[in-house]
Amino acid sequence: MSDASDTLNDFTSEPVGARRVVVLISGSGSNLQALIDEQTHDRLGGEIVAVISNEPDAYGLVRAREAGIDAVVLPHREYENRDAYDGALIKVIERHEPDLIVLAGFMRILTPRFVQRFLGRMLNIHPSLLPAYQGLDTHARALADGVAEHGCSVHFVTEELDGGPVVIQAAVDVAEGETEASLKEKVHAREHLIYPIAVKWFLEGRLQFAPGGATLDGMPLPAQGVRLSHADAAEELDEDQEL
Ligand code: GRF
Repeated sequence: MSDASDTLNDFTSEPVGARRVVVLISGSGSNLQALIDEQTHDRLGGEIVAVISNEPDAYGLVRAREAGIDAVVLPHREYENRDAYDGALIKVIERHEPDLIVLAGFMRILTPRFVQRFLGRMLNIHPSLLPAYQGLDTHARALADGVAEHGCSVHFVTEELDGGPVVIQAAVDVAEGETEASLKEKVHAREHLIYPIAVKWFLEGRLQFAPGGATLDGMPLPAQGVRLSHADAAEELDEDQEL
């Protein structure tokens, strides 16, 4: 056969490296663990190449090291201002040449420069059904409002805090006598379910950022992204469904 097959061979012999992920954390890193677990089972669609924390004592660093992942501490207190810190953080991140940056409990407000640098390839998880309850203390605020439903969302990061295009959400029904702790636990379980899904979609090239919203397989997602109902999530999580 001819030139065509030579060309094809040339093309296929080019090794395609695994898609690279850098995860930013500040604390416990249970979402990081959910991603590590998927990676361990070869289900993430890429490789977590580094975990970076602004807090030296973050338990997520231990999780990373135990999984053999490069764990980097970049303490924000050692920098004069937000801009200097974010500049240093950009350098550390870029050293790892990531395709995707995953914020997993990274408790920092990001500068516009930082957001612009990674626009379209940075995801965050937030403990509410966005656009409801942007910002902090989401569980307490939801309970105080007496809402029937709460949950979590994965979204692309834009300059608007917790305001970028939503990719996927999972809902939880608020039970009689629900406490902040019990609600947080249920939402956390849903976070661990949906974050690996969103990361995998991105790494497989199925999920893309567009300023007006995210697309999945080339189709625009609705404002709430893909929505997992309470029942769907509870079934996935093998939860007792009685309320
Ligand atoms: C999660 O609740 C997440 O929604 C928020 O920060 C928390 C991080 O938890 N962004 P963990 O460190 O992953 O356990």
